[in-house]
Amino acid sequence: VSSDGTTATHGALDVVMEGLRRLEYRGYDSAGVAVLTPNGIESRKKSGKLSNLVAELEARPLTASLTGIGHTRWATHGAPNDTNAHPHLADNGRLAVIHNGIIENFAELKAVLLEQGETFLSETDTEVAAALLGRIYQELSAAGDPDPLTHAMRKASQQLEGAFTLLAVHQDSPGIVVAARRNSPLVVGLGDGENFLGSDVSGFIDFTRRAVELGQDQVVTITPDDVVITDFFGAPAEGKEFHVDWDAAAAEKGGYPSFMEKEINDQPDAVAQTLLGRSDAQGKLILDELRIDETILRSVDKIVVLACGTSAYAGQVAKYAIEHWCRIPTEVELSHEFRYRDPIVNEKTLVVAISQSGETMDTLMAVRYAREQGAKVVAICNTNGSTIPRESDAVLYTHAGPEIAVASTKAFLAQITAAYLLGLYLAQLRGNKFGDEIADVMADLADMPAKIQSILDNADKVKKLARDMSNAKSVLFLGRHVGFPVAMEGALKLKELAYIHAEGFAAGELKHGPIALIEDGQPVVVVVPSPNGRDSLHAKVVSNIQEIRARGAVTIVIAEEGDTSVEAYAEHVFYVPKTPTLLAPLLTTVPLQIFACELASAKGYDVDQPRNLAKSVTVE
Ligand code: G6P
Repeated sequence: VSSDGTTATHGALDVVMEGLRRLEYRGYDSAGVAVLTPNGIESRKKSGKLSNLVAELEARPLTASLTGIGHTRWATHGAPNDTNAHPHLADNGRLAVIHNGIIENFAELKAVLLEQGETFLSETDTEVAAALLGRIYQELSAAGDPDPLTHAMRKASQQLEGAFTLLAVHQDSPGIVVAARRNSPLVVGLGDGENFLGSDVSGFIDFTRRAVELGQDQVVTITPDDVVITDFFGAPAEGKEFHVDWDAAAAEKGGYPSFMEKEINDQPDAVAQTLLGRSDAQGKLILDELRIDETILRSVDKIVVLACGTSAYAGQVAKYAIEHWCRIPTEVELSHEFRYRDPIVNEKTLVVAISQSGETMDTLMAVRYAREQGAKVVAICNTNGSTIPRESDAVLYTHAGPEIAVASTKAFLAQITAAYLLGLYLAQLRGNKFGDEIADVMADLADMPAKIQSILDNADKVKKLARDMSNAKSVLFLGRHVGFPVAMEGALKLKELAYIHAEGFAAGELKHGPIALIEDGQPVVVVVPSPNGRDSLHAKVVSNIQEIRARGAVTIVIAEEGDTSVEAYAEHVFYVPKTPTLLAPLLTTVPLQIFACELASAKGYDVDQPRNLAKSVTVE
């Protein structure tokens, strides 16, 4: 929303469309906008990607305006068609509403509203919220309320259950946008003669760096010159102002054909940023952010890592490292499974919640539950000011910079790096590891950015193979020890981007079932551990390769430089620099990311926005 007549202000449609472009990664089933004009509310919405809405706006332009809202959708209720797209109108087209989240009691509310004579065009829960808001608005405005939009939003929010960020504009309340949030993200951007709202700061990064975090269950009213925050009952509340320090160029493709390629290539820097300033010259860990009483951290008798998707695979790598360094039993669990199975957590449990976005609802709910049981929670997160870190006891930010491509890459390596730091810190604190040992691992970690770079610099062979394999119907991935989560992440990347059936298995498990899948020509990617590593890990995996090769598999091997022993059993070998076994995922993952990205590109798919996915899943 902008004021009229000042030179600093921008047209609402330009601001909204720019914001949607930057936020499109959050969901891209459909998109829509509404602006307030002297003739009333004008709205356009279109299913599919934002480009469809752009075309619609060209065909049917909107009247210039200084107040507007816009939305990109990841469908929850109702198919992703034009009708179900947001904004939804109510109050005879005088009110426009957009919504993220799920309103869990929408069916009950809808039944009441239908009885009251409301009609609905869409199948969405959002339209129900809009109708409710419209009714309350009418009542308040008939009673002479001076700010019926704000007051209606508070009253409506009191009746809504579930997760929501709602934004509304009303034709009879010019120059005002009102929003409410519960369990869904919303930040305010402070401008000069203009103010903004967004699901995250990238929505308004082109216009201001000053942002305000909102708390839970709050309503915010923005006008060109004012921002007023209250709770759902009107009690004044304060937001926390912060400065957005990443620059807009970091959220651009920087010359790469896709965000994903850029982000894969950002990885040396992402890992370096995660390490930056977290140890002293002697290699001793300094994690100032870990503001949890040291006596509590010393008394922890169990660690539970909670995460979803790629972040959960980072958690699995963390388990190997933390248990080895700290001797603390560590479990890794998918947040949604943990939350609803009556898990054993108490004051002696340290929960590590890993989330790139800091908004994944499944993980947020698991964090809340763990804290209710008395556990302390450390978040490993990439997004400043997001909800999960705010609701945790402490946070280790990964500082990887904004990740835009939906499939996670640089955030994954940064999460693994942060988990190593956490493990080493706990080992240092609890006396499991001392000065030199920690300094040695820190020195190895400091070498990782250059080693990742060397893989990126020599990616042509992987890319060529990916293009040659673009007709593959199924690809299997095998790994042992830390190579196991890497194999699963490699498979996930291929599923997400190339829509190919792919599975990651523990190499040792193969003979217990999955080996039945091997037939002539079946491609199998094998992550081979270092021959200099512990026990006979390497020899065991080499045996596994022989077993599948004997049954016709085409083997693609990721091995350590100099490990020529695998060549006899591999159709294709890709080497990564030598590194200690526990740290190897920072390297072995990279060729698998490049492979999936290139293969999907060769098939002509959009690697930044794969079908059906969203970057930040704010529903359970
Ligand atoms: C979504 C994304 C995945 C991501 C997962 C967890 O499903 O598509 O790429 O790994 O959420 O996200 P988080 O932000 O919690 O790490």
